[in-house]
Amino acid sequence: MGLEVRFEVAPTPASTPDLHPDAASEIEFADAVTVRAASEWGAIHGLATLAQLAGKSHAITRIHDHPAYPWRGLMIDVARHFIPLPALRRTLDAMSLAKLNVLHLHLTDDQAFRFRSEAHPELASAEAWDAAELTELVAYAADRAIRIVPELDMPGHVTSWLVARPEWGAGSASGPSRRFGVHEACLDPTNPAVLRAVETLLGELADIFPDPFLHFGGDEVNGTWWNAHEGVQTLMRSQGFRAADVQADFNRKLTTIIRQLGRRPLAWDEALHPALARDTLIQAWRGNQARDAALAAGFDCVLSAPYYLDLFYPASLHHCFDPGGDLAAAEDRLLADDRTRHVREGLQWMAGFASFPGLPDAPAGGEGRILGGEACLWSELVDEGCLDSRLWGRLPAIAERFWCGSEAEEAGLLERTVAFQGSLARLGIVPEDSETRRRAFPELAPIEPLVEMLEPVKWYRRLLGAAFERRVSGLGESGVARPYDADTPLNRLVDHLPPESLASRRAEAELDAGGDMQRWIEGWRRQREAISELAEVDAGLRDASRALGELADILDDGDCSMAPEEIDALAGPFDEYLLPLAHAVARRRR
Ligand code: ACM
Repeated sequence: MGLEVRFEVAPTPASTPDLHPDAASEIEFADAVTVRAASEWGAIHGLATLAQLAGKSHAITRIHDHPAYPWRGLMIDVARHFIPLPALRRTLDAMSLAKLNVLHLHLTDDQAFRFRSEAHPELASAEAWDAAELTELVAYAADRAIRIVPELDMPGHVTSWLVARPEWGAGSASGPSRRFGVHEACLDPTNPAVLRAVETLLGELADIFPDPFLHFGGDEVNGTWWNAHEGVQTLMRSQGFRAADVQADFNRKLTTIIRQLGRRPLAWDEALHPALARDTLIQAWRGNQARDAALAAGFDCVLSAPYYLDLFYPASLHHCFDPGGDLAAAEDRLLADDRTRHVREGLQWMAGFASFPGLPDAPAGGEGRILGGEACLWSELVDEGCLDSRLWGRLPAIAERFWCGSEAEEAGLLERTVAFQGSLARLGIVPEDSETRRRAFPELAPIEPLVEMLEPVKWYRRLLGAAFERRVSGLGESGVARPYDADTPLNRLVDHLPPESLASRRAEAELDAGGDMQRWIEGWRRQREAISELAEVDAGLRDASRALGELADILDDGDCSMAPEEIDALAGPFDEYLLPLAHAVARRRR
């Protein structure tokens, strides 16, 4: 039988949400359910709350719900891999259910330019969206109380722009690039045609996207081209500029354009500079100190550093960061977690990666405000086929933190995340991860007890491959090829393994609670036998299989003589796979 739901919603004049939509709702459960809200946006969030309660028995009579932060975002890099519109639409459906309200599209990068501009159609990659398609997406998002923020990343990350417009570069490159990592390509800020084109492109985006913000990127500018460019060198000498000041001068022009378009500028935290326009919103990504540097200098801030979904962390390690909370304590937790042990040097290297010199620390306008957080999905290792599993095992936990702020509870997080994924599957929005994986690799069914325990390695270890050790020891990557580029097919098991193994979490919890592991042990022994029957299995999987068999033996044999450190080593990494269960077994022995 259907449930009657009544809505009492105040008239909402705007057709798209703004920065501070009235997002609160009240739900009353009586003979019928009544959702009351001061705006359509609040009513949509109330409906999401109801959808999550559906099918569960509860004794709630009234819910008052409102978000801790107005900015609850997700950035998707649609440049490294193209994400088709149907996948973006189902992502918006799922975001709405999670009460996330900002989709930030990183439209351009070295590998592709995904916006088919009317004035500059020559810039567009083969796979790109035109104004009509994007306008439709904006409306689809607004119907789900979600804003869309477009980003044109500049002056770096522009190799793809220079394919059709080499004269806009401060050097030359062949492009678009297929490799990943920071590139030298950089716009020539002294060329008036560059500013004219950027003004045109931003103007077109402002016509399509009604959002109050326009993102101009600004990250990872490599100074090599500017240092060798006559015009830039003349500018530097005449003004006494360093490379950071050249970028700040370019940013000053961009922020003026953006303000003239009636929008607020938004940029990655490299834009922080004493000369940066104070109304620029800073997206803090280079370590957690970026947030405090921005706030102290008087800039409003959205926190992204702890929410990089492409680092393959488990949900709880994202969830422990509150955008407005004690980031250092959460960082300590991330560093101390067994599951990040194999990349600890990388995490430590990253913690000291950015500095923010020369910022005023007592601005006249007072401290900036934290508007919220934004999870980021960089797509070097993500395409349409694995998009869902890269998002929905962790994003519900992050969304909960953005909605609940300091009141988010850790207890029961995994169960809530699993329930959320169940809702997505039940509503036909996104299938369960395990279903997609089993469909893609039916031949691995005999070793399911192994496959379900595996996770991809963390941090940038997949992306860097053999360059990982060189990078974290400060040697740089020269001479060591990365294992992936934009043409590498993402069709192996590791591409379809969820970043967090629910089976492993369940087995670890049972082990920690001293439960009976016999059923698990049988499966782990069975997979060891079964793998020898499989013809095409990569070496990493075979090594992980042996390790899991060994863990089964250790658990079955109370007198194991292995030291905890030796047991920890059974976690791997095995090529790109990790077996986090080993750490839980080692813990039992300590
Ligand atoms: C970034 O991750 N390059 C903003």
